[in-house]
Amino acid sequence: MKKAELFENERATDYNQFVETWIPNYHNFLDILPKLLSETVQRDLLVVGCGTGNEIERFVNGSENWTITGVDPSLEMLKQAKEKFQHYDNVTLIEGLISELDSKKRYSAATLLLVLHFFEDNGNKLYLLKDIADKLVSGATLVMLDITGAKNQIKQNAKVLKLLLPDGIDEKLVDKRIDRIENELFAVSEERLSELLQQAGFEKPLRFFQTSIYMGWLTKKK
Ligand SMILES: C[S@@+](CC[C@H](N)C(=O)[O-])C[C@H]1O[C@@H](n2cnc3c(N)ncnc32)[C@H](O)[C@@H]1O
Repeated sequence: MKKAELFENERATDYNQFVETWIPNYHNFLDILPKLLSETVQRDLLVVGCGTGNEIERFVNGSENWTITGVDPSLEMLKQAKEKFQHYDNVTLIEGLISELDSKKRYSAATLLLVLHFFEDNGNKLYLLKDIADKLVSGATLVMLDITGAKNQIKQNAKVLKLLLPDGIDEKLVDKRIDRIENELFAVSEERLSELLQQAGFEKPLRFFQTSIYMGWLTKKK
């Protein structure tokens, strides 16, 4: 499996500011993650595409004792996560792909936030989801956040996104970003996402969260 998108230079250094600006309610989504996974018996979490460690932060500061493995192929993103969590011995960060993790280890929960829409639906999305399923115990929960929707749905929700963005962003920049979302990223419809997850070995997913083009999904490994 290739790296879907390289997060380097200012894309890496400005990343946290970027998500806060462009993804309305993103921090609310992150804040509820530990609650969503609170029924997990073994608190052993795999964070796929952990980037700068936004999701990990919510787990290390919660009341539960999680053991967390974050994996990401971007050295520059991971460098920020490594700095943040250097004093936590329950956090392991691995620069690379899921296929490079310990082949015998299985996790009881996983997150995949803002990663899948960078993968083309030409086998690459399915490959990534299968790779994740392979690393989980049966019954493990997967939480996802992704740009989701059929073309027209994305178009309409992109208009809503525009309304929800903070004041003062240059309009040209907004249009450029929306054009990229519509034409360069690889969102699929809700039905297709559900199909892909089920083909990869997960249950039919539940859409439990939405903020404009971004949808939050919950599913379990069969
Ligand atoms: C938009 S960032 C999301 C980071 C983090 N999940 C968050 O919500 O803040 C996407 C991340 O996916 C990573 N990525 C790209 N290809 C990947 C792959 N094949 N497996 C895992 N992560 C990948 C990128 O390096 C980048 O850090």
